[in-house]
Amino acid sequence: MGQGVERAAQAKGHQIMARFSRRLGMPKERPQDLAQADLAIDFSHSALVLDHLKLCLSLNKPLVIGTTGWENEMATAQALVCEAQGSCLCAPNFSIGMFLFQRIVAYAASLLAPFEAYDLCGVEYHHQEKLDAPSGTAKALTRQIIDHLPRWPHFAFSSIRCGHIPGTHTLHFDSAADTLTLTHQARHREGFAQGALMAAEWLLSRKGFFTLDDFFK
Ligand SMILES: NC(=O)c1ccc[n+]([C@@H]2O[C@H](COP(=O)([O-])OP(=O)(O)OC[C@H]3O[C@@H](n4cnc5c(N)ncnc54)[C@H](OP(=O)(O)O)[C@@H]3O)[C@@H](O)[C@H]2O)c1
Repeated sequence: MGQGVERAAQAKGHQIMARFSRRLGMPKERPQDLAQADLAIDFSHSALVLDHLKLCLSLNKPLVIGTTGWENEMATAQALVCEAQGSCLCAPNFSIGMFLFQRIVAYAASLLAPFEAYDLCGVEYHHQEKLDAPSGTAKALTRQIIDHLPRWPHFAFSSIRCGHIPGTHTLHFDSAADTLTLTHQARHREGFAQGALMAAEWLLSRKGFFTLDDFFK
């Protein structure tokens, strides 16, 4: 994802001030490089997110977080940003199509919920290197359904890890008579990188803790 963000940023005329990875060195080892940038974008590992956020807040740099698997620490992140009066936007999925898909799923689920005949299940597919399962997007879709509709309290996604799949999320509303299937299929990872960059451009002039909902609104 880091390489995709770099390509997307350069295509829009932005300058990359520093790149970080285990191989290149992590931000805490070279904070002076981070200090030169207007903003940082994090696609790394769930265990690193809060440290990266603290470092960016201490340097007064807005941070866009695409890393997934750290949902349980979101409240802590929000409190840190508020306390420091910093800027942060995080999203488990930066694809515009997925943002719209979440709304379609919410609408479909609200239409089908009154009909006892329909059960609901979800399946998500990703490449075999993906570390977290279910995906952050699957967790967000699950929360959306469970929090707003008591109809399917045990709804959960099954996860499949295989080959190079960039990310597919499918929901089946199944009855004895038929199945309604909704699928979002990412074609490639550039869509995520471009979405993260758009969110970054938007975040530059703002203070606070944001999600993609705020950006699209
Ligand atoms: N929000 C979205 O739209 C979106 C889209 C795609 C992926 N993601 C998420 O973004 C994150 C990164 O995905 P990716 O596909 O870019 O992963 P990746 O190719 O494995 O890259 C992870 C990066 O983090 C570095 N890193 C540092 N410490 C690490 C550790 N302990 N374990 C693993 N990597 C470590 C790696 O350094 P080295 O290269 O030197 O190992 C690498 O630069 C994941 O959480 C993924 O789920 C989000």
